[in-house]
Amino acid sequence: MALYSKRRTLTLLAGAATLSLMAAACSSGSNSSSSDTSADNSRGPITYVQGKDNSDILAPTVAAWNKAHPNEKVTAKEQSDQADQQHDDLVQNFQAKSDAYDVVSVDVVWTAEFAAKGWLTPLKGDMALDTTGYLPATVKAATYNNTLFAAPVSSDGGILYYRKDLVPTPPTTIDDMWKDCAIAKKNNMDCYAGQFAKYEGLTVNATEWMNTFGGKVVDDSGKPVVDSPESLKGLTALVDGFKQGYIPKQALTYQEEQGRQSFEAGKLLFLRNWPYVYNLALTDASSKVKTKFAVAPLPGATAGNPGTSSLGGHSAAISAYSKHKATALDFLKFLTSEEQQKFNMEKGSLAPTRESLYSDASLVKTYPYLPTLLKSIQSAVPRPVTPFYPAVTTAIQDNSYAAISLATAPDQALKNMQAALTAAISGS
Ligand code: GLC
Repeated sequence: MALYSKRRTLTLLAGAATLSLMAAACSSGSNSSSSDTSADNSRGPITYVQGKDNSDILAPTVAAWNKAHPNEKVTAKEQSDQADQQHDDLVQNFQAKSDAYDVVSVDVVWTAEFAAKGWLTPLKGDMALDTTGYLPATVKAATYNNTLFAAPVSSDGGILYYRKDLVPTPPTTIDDMWKDCAIAKKNNMDCYAGQFAKYEGLTVNATEWMNTFGGKVVDDSGKPVVDSPESLKGLTALVDGFKQGYIPKQALTYQEEQGRQSFEAGKLLFLRNWPYVYNLALTDASSKVKTKFAVAPLPGATAGNPGTSSLGGHSAAISAYSKHKATALDFLKFLTSEEQQKFNMEKGSLAPTRESLYSDASLVKTYPYLPTLLKSIQSAVPRPVTPFYPAVTTAIQDNSYAAISLATAPDQALKNMQAALTAAISGS
């Protein structure tokens, strides 16, 4: 019964959100159907490209826009659900100077690279976007060399999903979480997983473990400083999790979705993942944990200090090669409107970039973990900001993978990471 009412509430909320979304679509942008030819004033149909929409919010979003803009329709293209493949698809398109993609979803870690290459339209002058009220970190992540290049659509912070039926009080430290692994064992479950396959998600996770113990990948001037006693403590704690079997070996193949599936199947006690998992674990027909899970801050190295999340999230940018930039800018404003962000939260539990929504009474009632999420995002550490990010993330992924797969000792892995980062950041 409780479950039924919860789902009914969600459905009602989603319905209300769709209505307000349509209102937003109608009020945003111009109704002009003229086909001006000057680049920044040109209007017409556009294509919007983003990673796989696991939360089923893209179709209603685009439908609402299209209804209000019959002459400037958006065609949505979904890429795979894997960050690296999304990146490579965009790069290919930009390198070909193709106008096939007008608006693209940019992971926070790609802004510097894409902007430095001249692939994104700067959001200034006629193309300016008002970022008042946004979480500062999301604006910073969309900015390069003091110029805004993208509109922050959703933020992301790591949180700990846990089985509240089995662990009534969530662990606040990693040591306590490992102690709770006895509960997993008794119930024939895996204890903990994050994203440990060799891809961008591993950069996120390995960095979180090192940051949680006081380490840093780069210092404030961008110089690699990862070979430190603090980072070593963090990486060693993660490696120990694998050695002790607290983290199943299988997690070496997990991206976001595999961990989510294991958690929803009731096979995992603790999962580090992003906010999008919340709605799916609650509403997926196949989820076995609908009423059995809750969210807590990431566990820390010591009591009283939660773990440090890597800052995630996505912004929408206008390709430098778009032929319909005026329409594209209106679509960016629509995508980041308060109504749209509320819809994204209600329907897909995607973290808003507008700060006020974290204290929106109706949202907090339905999503009691919103304050936890806000804290995770506000204290999150950005991954290195550099045009050479692809080589930087490779350096982090390759060497942390060597450590967690137990091929290389953590101290050696960090020395190798430091050397690879130094080469990567110098652009060599
Ligand atoms: C999420 C984050 C993004 C990150 C990716 C890694 O999509 O929002 O910033 O790079 O996960 O898999």
